[in-house]
Amino acid sequence: MDPVVQLRKVSVRYGNSNGGLTAVADVDLSVMPGEVVSIVGKSGCGKTTLLKVIAGLVRPVSGEVLFNNKGVNGYSKGVGMLFQSPLLLPWRTVIKNILLPIEIINGDLESYLSRAYELIEKTGLKGYENSYPWELSGGMQQRVALCRALIHKPPLLLLDEPFSALDAITREEMWNLLQEVITYEKCTTILVTHDVREAVLLSDRVVVMGGKPGRIKSELMINFRRPRDLMVQYTKEFNDYVVMIKNLIGD
Ligand SMILES: Nc1ncnc2c1ncn2[C@@H]1O[C@H](COP(=O)(O)OP(=O)(O)OP(=O)(O)O)[C@@H](O)[C@H]1O
Ligand SMILES: [Mg+2]
Repeated sequence: MDPVVQLRKVSVRYGNSNGGLTAVADVDLSVMPGEVVSIVGKSGCGKTTLLKVIAGLVRPVSGEVLFNNKGVNGYSKGVGMLFQSPLLLPWRTVIKNILLPIEIINGDLESYLSRAYELIEKTGLKGYENSYPWELSGGMQQRVALCRALIHKPPLLLLDEPFSALDAITREEMWNLLQEVITYEKCTTILVTHDVREAVLLSDRVVVMGGKPGRIKSELMINFRRPRDLMVQYTKEFNDYVVMIKNLIGD
């Protein structure tokens, strides 16, 4: 099996040659089909930059980025993205927000309608199809954003701190939901997070970044069976992973 995503010696620079900053340097990373990989590290170490490189939103100055064995050149339709803020359009209903990416690419809205309803059902939003974002809680808005990210059945889901603005209880609900959805959708997932517990609970592998410019410092496999119950957080093994990763970040 070939990796879905391959980064080879990827470096990214912002700014111009007179004054600029190397955000990430010499990053090698491969993500296998169906794998859930988290990227953790201190603020400013280049986590979001790496996601943008994978999505084709930022071009590296050197190195190679492959998505399904093809060089990434511009934004890829095979990617769904979810950010810290849901970024919904307030004048559009839930269903119309979810269908927005299809509208933008001039896709056949009718044929995606049943897909939209399937996602609404899966994410517990049934009954809110015609509500506006401002009528929903923060967690519900993020569920709508997740449906919008998945509407075109992307094989790769990129998540940038998607739950950090939510309260602790809602965040745990979203952890459960995300586990269900990525198992059902069978999508490969890369999650950027500040929350080490979130990384351990959700991931098959945690990648630790650090330094300026950002580099990958180490990787750790998380060997809990799936599906993972939230109660696994209270085991010794879980805490051992958390402490190990915190130490790796903190070095
Ligand atoms: N568009 C940009 N132009 C110039 N510099 C940028 C740009 N985007 C990011 N940077 C810089 O690149 C470095 C890496 O930024 P990045 O956003 O990837 O970090 P991060 O690890 O995601 O941080 P955080 O955890 O705070 O979100 C930082 O020093 C940041 O200031
Ligand atoms: Mg970031």
